[in-house]
Amino acid sequence: MPSAVVAISGASGARYGVRLLEALRDADWSINLIVSREGAINLDLECGITPQELAAQNGVILEDNENLAAKSASGSAKFDGYIICPASGTTVGKLASGITDNLITRSGMVALKEQRKLILVPRETPYATVQLENMAKLSGYGVVILPANPGYYNNPESIEDLVDFVVARILDQLDVEHNLSQRWSGGEVTLAKSADTDLTL
Ligand SMILES: Cc1cc2nc3c(=O)[nH]c(=O)nc-3n(C[C@H](O)[C@H](O)[C@H](O)COP(=O)(O)O)c2cc1C
Repeated sequence: MPSAVVAISGASGARYGVRLLEALRDADWSINLIVSREGAINLDLECGITPQELAAQNGVILEDNENLAAKSASGSAKFDGYIICPASGTTVGKLASGITDNLITRSGMVALKEQRKLILVPRETPYATVQLENMAKLSGYGVVILPANPGYYNNPESIEDLVDFVVARILDQLDVEHNLSQRWSGGEVTLAKSADTDLTL
């Protein structure tokens, strides 16, 4: 059974993490879930759910972010993927500078040192230069920087559609089959207005 560490840190966008858990559960992945203090605040604000309820709903193991002796803190415990979704600027900054003072950053560092798949889903706007530099640095280390930036070309009709767009990209990175969002086929595009329009100004 494939396995992953899914961490919800304190950026807005907790519902991306919630949807990711559901999708991985449906794909029969084994999940160790970590939620930071601010992650729990955002879970409550945006989804009205506690980490404990979220873990129980999805049948996943909830690890304490303060417990650096938990399973996901060790490189000897093998996981197929590590996903921090959403990833706060603080967590990204710690990883970029090698600070591992909680279980989320420690498990992220395990992924880095063991050269395993690490996916970060940052959400901030605008970004400070230091945050952009941190992401560029981590990208250079092989980390997938997958921002919570849904596309609009599939004409989303709901917040769920927007969330699914981003979660679909995460699942693609993990090679998980899904039907969360339509794939761009190119050939079937019909442009409502601009097809017959001279686009030169
Ligand atoms: C309600 C709320 C929303 C926040 N939204 C964001 C955000 O969108 N992006 C971000 O980088 N930080 C955001 N923060 C700030 C982080 O939570 C803060 O930097 C915290 O130290 C992150 O710690 P963690 O990475 O251990 O969860 C938010 C905080 C709160 C309380």
